[in-house]
Amino acid sequence: MTHTTAPVGIIGGTGLTTLSGLKIIGERDVETPWGQPSAPLVEGELDGQQVFFLARHGNPHRIPPHQVNYRANLWALHASGVRTVVGVNAVGGIHSDMGPAHIVIPHQLIDYTWGRASTFFEGELDHVTHIDFTFPYTEAAREVLIRGAQAEQVPFSGFGVYGATQGPRLETAAEISRMERDGCDLVGMTGMPEAVLAAELEMNYVCLGLVVNWAAGKSDHIITMAEIDAAIEQGMSGVKAILGRTVRE
Ligand code: HPA
Repeated sequence: MTHTTAPVGIIGGTGLTTLSGLKIIGERDVETPWGQPSAPLVEGELDGQQVFFLARHGNPHRIPPHQVNYRANLWALHASGVRTVVGVNAVGGIHSDMGPAHIVIPHQLIDYTWGRASTFFEGELDHVTHIDFTFPYTEAAREVLIRGAQAEQVPFSGFGVYGATQGPRLETAAEISRMERDGCDLVGMTGMPEAVLAAELEMNYVCLGLVVNWAAGKSDHIITMAEIDAAIEQGMSGVKAILGRTVRE
């Protein structure tokens, strides 16, 4: 993933609170200037590659998307030496090819979140910083995931525009129509500010999205937790296969 010996960070989302196959070395409680991360970092080894795993919503899953301390999470990973982060995200599918259990490695995003602490550059500053964010996902890291998905023969899409919504409620059908007109292929609640905070820390960042439901209005039924759980059950083995294949690259 990094072509160096730097540890890889994996931020697990809904359906991925632990990572099987990880040889666990230990757990680290990390304090940051921004408070506490969602959970202790789990340090482990996956095929000889040092990995830090972090459960985005805590373990057990208890922190909703709008209350995740994204700054503490990214800071803790960076302070542990991580320079490449894979964010695993459960998402809703908007694009007609991106139905439940499909895996997507998006190339762009649109941020619809509001009121989240989304920068490290605030408070007493020497100068104002505007980072470039033209390409929110690191292309080289995306290519590693794409090759991993091909090698594992997991069906996937190697492109997609991720629309990040505030949640925790799901969207209305009209909101999804608007997002589709905007060019969104996927909808999720945790892609931002995670991506921009990684960029501010000059880390590589890539998203591995698992579609867990058709977005609101994209099927003939309303969205149920049972449907979401079934798609997680069906799709998570592919996510894990891709992670297992790619972190050691
Ligand atoms: N909308 C927003 N976030 C999501 C969805 C959705 O339909 N599914 C999983 N995360």
